[in-house]
Amino acid sequence: MHLRVCRPSVPLGLLFVGRASLDKEPHEVAAMFDGVAEKYDLTNTVLAFGQDRVWRRRTREALNLEAGERVLDLAAGTGVSTLELARSGATAIGADFSVGMLRVGRKARPSVPLVAADALALPFADGSFDAVTISFGLRNIVDPAAALREMARVTRPGGRLVVCEFSHPVVAPFRTVYLRYLMGALPAVARRVASNPDAYVYLAESIQAWPDQAGLAGVVQSAGWAKVAWRNLTGGVVALHRGIKP
Ligand SMILES: C[S@@+](CC[C@H](N)C(=O)[O-])C[C@H]1O[C@@H](n2cnc3c(N)ncnc32)[C@H](O)[C@@H]1O
Repeated sequence: MHLRVCRPSVPLGLLFVGRASLDKEPHEVAAMFDGVAEKYDLTNTVLAFGQDRVWRRRTREALNLEAGERVLDLAAGTGVSTLELARSGATAIGADFSVGMLRVGRKARPSVPLVAADALALPFADGSFDAVTISFGLRNIVDPAAALREMARVTRPGGRLVVCEFSHPVVAPFRTVYLRYLMGALPAVARRVASNPDAYVYLAESIQAWPDQAGLAGVVQSAGWAKVAWRNLTGGVVALHRGIKP
């Protein structure tokens, strides 16, 4: 749940300030995740005070999955988000381009189907999923709008999208405390538990550079999704954006 990649070339003129320290090529993103893969699941839960489990459950609920449906979990990493989706009874398929994350995931969760795939060129036919979702991944993709379009392509008409991503706390005093945690305590804790602590500096910086709730809703809509709306979790630390494939 980290490493937002900012590129000045991101379409729609949106919100992203191209910060050199956050610029990454796709192979650098994959390599960075390879580097954190081993301790990824544990580090997340520690840094999020266990809230990640609640956010994943809320994501599954927002998708309204039914047994027999097919759901794509994009940027699935170690499959922790995919496993939560499978609890619905739907067939949940995880896709990611970090071989390191997939390797850890296949070992830890052998029952979860994990496919090596680039979010910008998915190896799936048009309309082949009833629902698509991405948890803490969109921020890391070099072209988030292109990924949202690709997600729309593989979703059937009437299918659902849910994006679970860090966002911006809505109440000012809480926002101040949260930013202090993000820029101070979080990198310090990461130094103790993470296999690549530098990656968690990116986490903090990338969250700050990410669009707010309304901004991301605009990106989702421009990428071809209808009925776009969002819901804040934990006061806006995370937001769930949803949409329908027209
Ligand atoms: C922070 S992890 C999220 C993992 C998981 N969804 C979760 O909830 O913990 C972000 C993932 O995005 C993946 N990613 C980034 N860009 C990608 C791309 N273009 N195609 C596929 N996966 C990508 C990374 O490899 C990484 O595993």
